[in-house]
Amino acid sequence: MLVTDPLSDDGIERLRKFADVHIREGLKEEELIEIIRSYDALIVRSGTKVAADVIEAGADGRLKVIGRAGVGVDNIDVSAATEKGVLVVNAPEANTISAAEHTIAMILALSRWIPSANASLKAGKWNRKKYMGVELNGKTLGIIGLGRIGAEVAKRAKAFGMRIIAYDPYTSVEKAREIGASLVSFDDVLRRADFITVHTPLTDETYHLLNADAFDRMKEGVRVINCARGGIIDESALADAIKRGKVAGAALDVFEEEPPSPENELISLENVIVTPHLGASTEEAQRASAIVIAEEVERALKGEPVRYAVNMPYLEEERWDVMKPYLTLSSKIGSLCAQLKPKLSRIMRLELTYEGIMSEDTKILTASALQGFLSNFVSGVNIVNAEVMARKMGIKVSERRTKDVDMFKSLMSVSMHTEDGTVTEVSGTIFEDLGDEPRIVKINGYRIDAVPEEYMLICFFIDRPRVIGPVCTILGDKGINIARMQVGRKEPGGEAIMVLNVDSQVDDATIAEIRNVKNIVDVKLVKL
Ligand code: NAD
Ligand code: MLT
Repeated sequence: MLVTDPLSDDGIERLRKFADVHIREGLKEEELIEIIRSYDALIVRSGTKVAADVIEAGADGRLKVIGRAGVGVDNIDVSAATEKGVLVVNAPEANTISAAEHTIAMILALSRWIPSANASLKAGKWNRKKYMGVELNGKTLGIIGLGRIGAEVAKRAKAFGMRIIAYDPYTSVEKAREIGASLVSFDDVLRRADFITVHTPLTDETYHLLNADAFDRMKEGVRVINCARGGIIDESALADAIKRGKVAGAALDVFEEEPPSPENELISLENVIVTPHLGASTEEAQRASAIVIAEEVERALKGEPVRYAVNMPYLEEERWDVMKPYLTLSSKIGSLCAQLKPKLSRIMRLELTYEGIMSEDTKILTASALQGFLSNFVSGVNIVNAEVMARKMGIKVSERRTKDVDMFKSLMSVSMHTEDGTVTEVSGTIFEDLGDEPRIVKINGYRIDAVPEEYMLICFFIDRPRVIGPVCTILGDKGINIARMQVGRKEPGGEAIMVLNVDSQVDDATIAEIRNVKNIVDVKLVKL
């Protein structure tokens, strides 16, 4: 495992409990590309840029997971990781309080000019007039991005008697009310706030959200704080707004370029307070982020469910235990369906139907079914990239959900539509009363009760005497033991299905022999 940014000793110690850890800080991109292929996991903070080239080189080798010991993943090309099936995990909650406290420290420092007053006195001056401040009490704080950190900032600012307004198009009025903030429009925040603090991720939508036009719309003498990400504020527009007195002061912990270039005008402006990306720099946050990420990476490498996946469908921690058998089942149904594909026919569409309790958390079940399905045709597919892979292969994927149940408490079906017009459908369930036993209960409408196991011989035949016996004899003569047998039909004398679970591989010659048995229509060996 490779660690390329400073990580707390506790985190390193935790990682060393399950893997060899190589610490290589300050690597250039070319150097990282050179060595990444030999590692299963890469752990970074915000310093290392994990670009597509790095991920591609890693995925060509052993790389399975990238752990970000912190929140922001803007230094990682997450789409490239998803495409390559590399899981990205982060530690989104570990530094929330530290970042919120830093923001409050910045707001206070900005309202009372503490850094410059401190520097002035240390330089031998006694200038009480110059550093006249403003109270926070009764002022309006505008929060842009009312997520984890925004909410904690709101709580603390309220204790100072501030009125909280917030802009966040992805949160609800109720959630804002619980936090004690009024949800308003972006324009309202700009027009009404005495202090504006940003707490969004850096995305295409938030890039330069506070630009020249936004500064124009703000109150005269507004104070602006950024402890989220450089790039959310247009730095030159901010410098202009400060120089013309529109903005009374700014406090910045993050910059578009880190460290900022000495030419960055903002650094030298007296009413701009700066810190070198210290939001999460507390002993508590560093320890917590490092330990969380070590645990996440360990889980990921052991194939266990992770709590903070960035590029995998989310499932609440408590749901993992309940969902585990369903995830295994969905992958097996997907794989079984794929192995029944008519030869050489192109897959056009997959329809996944969920009934009963399986109609919850379908995103992750679909990812798992697609992983099981696509692994029969392409390599390198996993639960992270399954959907992207399906799209790339031109397969349309749709989901249907219903809470209603018919025969079973839950049912999942995968229907495969191929170019030749065939529809192949496999359905399964979990028998909770039998210790969460998975069962395939229908294939192409034939009702069966088969346990999905390693080798399954699926024979379609005409329901007449002297079919089952000869098939079993052929297998017996080859020393292939039949472990279970299921027969299903829609009507006597019509088409029927026989599912034989066998204890070993069945070679092509044996399958050809079975195919020659009178009234056998088709035979497929399925390997799960
Ligand atoms: P979060 O995901 O909990 O919250 C982000 C919020 O922003 C969400 O509520 C989301 O709905 C909102 N949002 C997204 N797009 C928006 C838009 N266009 N306009 C308005 N709101 C929008 O994240 P968080 O943990 O609160 O972190 C917030 C930011 O702080 C991130 O950028 C993170 O990287 C950064 N951060 C910085 C430090 C530091 O050291 N300075 C430490 C921790 C986190
Ligand atoms: C984060 O996104 O978690 C912060 O920027 C902190 C960090 O990078 O250490």
